[in-house]
Amino acid sequence: MSEDATGLVLRDVHAGYGGQPILHGVSMTLRKGERKVVIGPNGSGKSTLMKTAVGLLRPLSGQILLNGQDVTALRASERARRGLTYVPQEANVFRNMSVLENLRIGHEFIAPRGGLAFAGRLEEVLRLFPEIRPKLGTTAGHLSGGQRQMVAMAAALMPDPTVLALDEPSAGLSPRNAELLFEIIHRIADSGVTLLLIEQNTRLGLGAADNGVVLVAGQVRLAAPTADILANENIRRLYLGGA
Ligand SMILES: Nc1ncnc2c1ncn2[C@@H]1O[C@H](COP(=O)(O)OP(=O)(O)OP(=O)(O)O)[C@@H](O)[C@H]1O
Ligand SMILES: [Mg+2]
Repeated sequence: MSEDATGLVLRDVHAGYGGQPILHGVSMTLRKGERKVVIGPNGSGKSTLMKTAVGLLRPLSGQILLNGQDVTALRASERARRGLTYVPQEANVFRNMSVLENLRIGHEFIAPRGGLAFAGRLEEVLRLFPEIRPKLGTTAGHLSGGQRQMVAMAAALMPDPTVLALDEPSAGLSPRNAELLFEIIHRIADSGVTLLLIEQNTRLGLGAADNGVVLVAGQVRLAAPTADILANENIRRLYLGGA
């Protein structure tokens, strides 16, 4: 695959905390426009993988490429400016600020690439999230969990990223609200952004992705098209709890 066609590449990444490795040689490639979901047991290193990919955690070794360029040494803010934005698993909005202020921070924190005007970008993002248009003046902390998750994703989309990383967007949501949120994730993916998703709800996660990665104990146990993962009885029994 030519490097031009790749959105995000991890090459033999070892990473952890305090020098103790959690990821033991993880490699994966996201093509431009691909939707990839990472699944795996609690504590298997999914969030660690994402934090390393977005630049919050410096790998012990290995390489990370964004749109064909080596970004291993770049901080998260610099990777964001180059088109990789991220919604963390927890604490992903400013709860004491309004929805509009959250979106403005999402826009301004990252110096607009190519002079994206706020108003125009706001309209584009609200087209993906019509549900939050009536809530622009509401304090984010007063929203429901599902609405907060939408605001977090909308803020991450404000700088018009090429790659969006979402860590467990459905965490803490009711099954119905998780379904609704995933309808929006489908909308986001259809808008053309390359998507790296972590999701515990394997049915929803695999349903939103082209390809799946099963991470177990900090290693890629399986990487395959989601259709193959869902069709394979053994894989389902071993990794998906029969889901
Ligand atoms: N900041 C940290 N400092 C030290 N150890 C950490 C830190 N964050 C995570 N870990 C450890 O790294 C391992 C992997 O954690 P990680 O959060 O990446 O797992 P996960 O697959 O995202 O789990 P979950 O499904 O529960 O979100 C765990 O053993 C965890 O205790
Ligand atoms: Mg996690």
